[in-house]
Amino acid sequence: MSELESEAMEAEFGTVARWTEEAVRALGPGYAVPAGCRGSGSEGALRWLADRLALGPGSRVLDDGAGVGGPAGWLAAERGIRAVCAEPMHAAAGAAARLFGLPSVTALAQQLPFADDTFDAAWCLGVLCTTTQKAEALAELRRVLRDGGRLGLLVFVADRPLPPPLPEGNEFPTEPELRGLLAAAGLRLAETAAADLGDSPAEWSQRADVVDDEVARRHGADPRWAEAQEQSRRVGRLLSDGALRAWLGVATAEPRADLRRDARDT
Ligand SMILES: C[S@@+](CC[C@H](N)C(=O)[O-])C[C@H]1O[C@@H](n2cnc3c(N)ncnc32)[C@H](O)[C@@H]1O
Repeated sequence: MSELESEAMEAEFGTVARWTEEAVRALGPGYAVPAGCRGSGSEGALRWLADRLALGPGSRVLDDGAGVGGPAGWLAAERGIRAVCAEPMHAAAGAAARLFGLPSVTALAQQLPFADDTFDAAWCLGVLCTTTQKAEALAELRRVLRDGGRLGLLVFVADRPLPPPLPEGNEFPTEPELRGLLAAAGLRLAETAAADLGDSPAEWSQRADVVDDEVARRHGADPRWAEAQEQSRRVGRLLSDGALRAWLGVATAEPRADLRRDARDT
């Protein structure tokens, strides 16, 4: 195992990322965004977040845990903004660069290779539930955002103890835990919503399925494909049972001077 917290996640986010890139290359560039949006999964969720990040021409944006770059590719195509992608799986980070021509770096969210105040906005989609180091990841996000910068989040939150079988390596926070972590990191929650992961246009879902079929045709006999499929089936079951829900949030980076004053006063 290299970077992630389970081998099943390495198969899902590393090996399958490489296979997804290969399938998109075979099928054509029109398949890249739907195939590449795997945590975010829905165009409605991306639109809701992008509308709230105060983006403008020249905004410096980070996609933290970018996967193969589908959401950042969507942002470039729809809003004309070229986000920087950071992603710990080297194959996925490379795919984001090759499929979407975006700047991309192999990096964990808890160790971002950027100076303080580098970004005006960031989003982090389906990532916090894949790491136990949520506080460290959020502290890094706060550090690389300028004062007042916006953060968009998609997090799968658990309202009650989850029934097995659980996806390996995931750690789903409760909403109160998530709110506490954001506040502790100096990120003030401004707005939340429930994400409807099924609200993408039919063509988007069809294209994602075509890419899955192509990956299965090429690699269906590989046990890592079955392992990755089982991981996403488990998440899907928890979502459809209502044990997990897809939570969207937008937070603002508290000014550093206020954070220092609060720390002094406590
Ligand atoms: C469900 S996928 C979401 C990918 C992408 N954000 C999207 O919406 O399509 C979760 C991603 O988080 C990445 N990841 C896992 N642990 C991470 C960590 N500690 N720091 C940053 N990214 C991480 C995985 O490699 C994977 O690409």
